Amino acid sequence: MRVPTPPMGWNSWNQVHEAVSEDVVLRTARAMVDRGLAAAGYTYVVVDDGWQARARAADGRLAHDPEKFPRGMAYVADEVHALGLKFGIYSAPGARTCAGYPGSIGYEEQDAAMFADWGVDFLKYDWCSAAPEVADRTTAAYSLMRRLLDETGREIILSLSEYGVTRPWHWARGIGDMWRTTYDIWPTWSSIYGIANQQLPIVEYTGPGGWNDPDMLHLGNGDLTLDENRSHMALWCLLAAPLFVGTDVEHLSDELVALLVHPGLLGLNQDPLGKASATTGVDGTTLTLRKPLADGRVALGILNHTTKPAPLTYHLYRLEEGAVDVWTGEPIDRHQVLAPHAMAIAVGAETARGAWSAGDLDRRLDCEDCA
Ligand code: GLA
Repeated sequence: MRVPTPPMGWNSWNQVHEAVSEDVVLRTARAMVDRGLAAAGYTYVVVDDGWQARARAADGRLAHDPEKFPRGMAYVADEVHALGLKFGIYSAPGARTCAGYPGSIGYEEQDAAMFADWGVDFLKYDWCSAAPEVADRTTAAYSLMRRLLDETGREIILSLSEYGVTRPWHWARGIGDMWRTTYDIWPTWSSIYGIANQQLPIVEYTGPGGWNDPDMLHLGNGDLTLDENRSHMALWCLLAAPLFVGTDVEHLSDELVALLVHPGLLGLNQDPLGKASATTGVDGTTLTLRKPLADGRVALGILNHTTKPAPLTYHLYRLEEGAVDVWTGEPIDRHQVLAPHAMAIAVGAETARGAWSAGDLDRRLDCEDCA
């Protein structure tokens, strides 16, 4: 199995968009090693759209932009590999990529072989111009690329990016290693929270070998508050989402680097059971998520989705006394008040009070069981 746990790495798009270059990629790869991200499991260094020349070479080859990548892509792949990391690249199954560069249609075999030759370990294959209305073609286009990548003999992760349009969680397992479930994420709380909510009805389709992908992290970008950055990371970990950093790793604050490598959160994300959180309740102030873990315990995440402080909901009573606060490693404070958009996460054994019932969804803070 190529991806027993959600893949992790960095992708250029959310950080620099089309202004990707050898310089950005290699500085980032070095920073990932120097700042502890590589050791924490962020392995893939992925060049997104914009690395290509505007047209294929005279012999049909998909060419790189010589100004952005003066020494070509194989050189970058070698340098990334020399750091102990893996190298990823981007193309599209249609005629054009989303930013208008040449896509792979008609050249799939040639492109797959060239990527393997360069030492590519990961391909993001981004639908965009490829006739989105034809669901059957989507499966065929991605199956073709899967087969061609396999035929190269190199292990290459295939990341499907068709924005959830054809519900790839129903058909992509065995073709893609991860599949986008939504349109693009933006560095705003409403985008992050909205996308997280869109994952909740489809959590049963994610797991070892193929992952729902709610898009890349925007942690460190835009005007996100520290609590919003923390909740963004926590949500993606509870959702067992692929974790692709999309910010300037070299200049990121120590506080945000610590968040990206937080062992408690990454432990939840990489838990070998590979379950994603389902919602167990949403009320006027909080959203409660529950993620079963391989060791039989569960993680509960309680998010204040409002712009005012909110007390924890009663849901924590379902965890044994001494359940651990993932942020601190200490027993969780059941009486804490959550700041706007902040999230509490506790891990522990569920008490003998039994399974969650539908009625739980409606119960509020005034319940008798509240801790
Ligand atoms: C689409 C994808 C993004 C990014 C851009 C590149 O919008 O969803 O993640 O790859 O294309 O053009």
